[in-house]
Amino acid sequence: MKELLQELRKSALEAMAGADSLEALESLRVKYLGKKGELTAILKQMGRLPADERPVIGQLANEIREQLDEAFESRCKSISQMLLEKRLKAETLDVTIPGTYVPIGKKHPLTTVLDEAIEIFVGMGFCIAEGPEVEFSDYNFTKLNTPEGHPARDRQDTFYFTDDGSVCLRTQTSPVQVRVMETSPPPIRIISPGRVYRKDEVDATHSPMFHQIEGLVVDKGITMGDLKGTLDTLVQRLYGEGTRTRFRPHHFPFTEPSCEVDVQCFECGGAGCRVCKGEGWIELLGAGMVHPKVLEGCGIDSTVYSGFAFGIGLERMAMRRFNIRDMRLLFENDVRFLSQF
Ligand code: DAH
Repeated sequence: MKELLQELRKSALEAMAGADSLEALESLRVKYLGKKGELTAILKQMGRLPADERPVIGQLANEIREQLDEAFESRCKSISQMLLEKRLKAETLDVTIPGTYVPIGKKHPLTTVLDEAIEIFVGMGFCIAEGPEVEFSDYNFTKLNTPEGHPARDRQDTFYFTDDGSVCLRTQTSPVQVRVMETSPPPIRIISPGRVYRKDEVDATHSPMFHQIEGLVVDKGITMGDLKGTLDTLVQRLYGEGTRTRFRPHHFPFTEPSCEVDVQCFECGGAGCRVCKGEGWIELLGAGMVHPKVLEGCGIDSTVYSGFAFGIGLERMAMRRFNIRDMRLLFENDVRFLSQF
């Protein structure tokens, strides 16, 4: 039995020394030292030995087990070390290999102009409000003093969702005014940028989807002078100091008085050119003093508070800012076009 054990030690040590992977080593450990391994198999036969030999053999078996355990551990370490070295060698970093080219994106011109406008308004103390694009006609029209039957509600111009016309794609960002006034008491100072929808044929200056920036200020003692000062500041910051505005009387159901605001042509400075079609001025936005009916409808006392509102077309602003002649270019997303800005 002694010989058997020594034989086992010899072959196990040799085998482990020759193992060249952790998997091979582990299967040797199982083969020799495992519960069903060779060492156990030999020890099971101890019972057959004379009693006085048992302790001697037992001691030898323990010695061998320890020896093999140690051999296993140390081979395990050296294989791991070997693998690590191999990996380090294989993974050397070649800093001279050219990197992968990642094209850098740019802001869409609409986003650029929107970000600029937001910065200017936030600088004047405005907050940003949001409203849904799928809107109740009540909010898009009725509460904005545009009752049923009003030509602005025409089915030919508005995308309605329901036969009764109670839900539509908002045609303007103005319903956000109502949502804000209904939920927050004055003082109010918000802008609300977003998409709006109208049944327009696509051409160089029309799209069934476009963007507006709504503005609303409600407080005690707000006048048309505040509106003018705010819009003048916007225009000077956007188009350069000294750029002038012109207020023309107009009609909107939800403001009284209402106006349209033109900006001095940035191309010719007002002399008249192709860009402004000889006018010297370019239409920029609609605005006015919030109609008392609209204030009252939102639960705001129009004898105490007054306010102004405006709605700017973002596409128009971007086209002016970057001298883009055709609105379709803004939506086609041709990278050759977009990468110019
Ligand atoms: N909602 C108007 C439009 O789409 C623009 C507008 C005009 C908004 C006057 C306003 C305003 O807030 O006071 O044509």
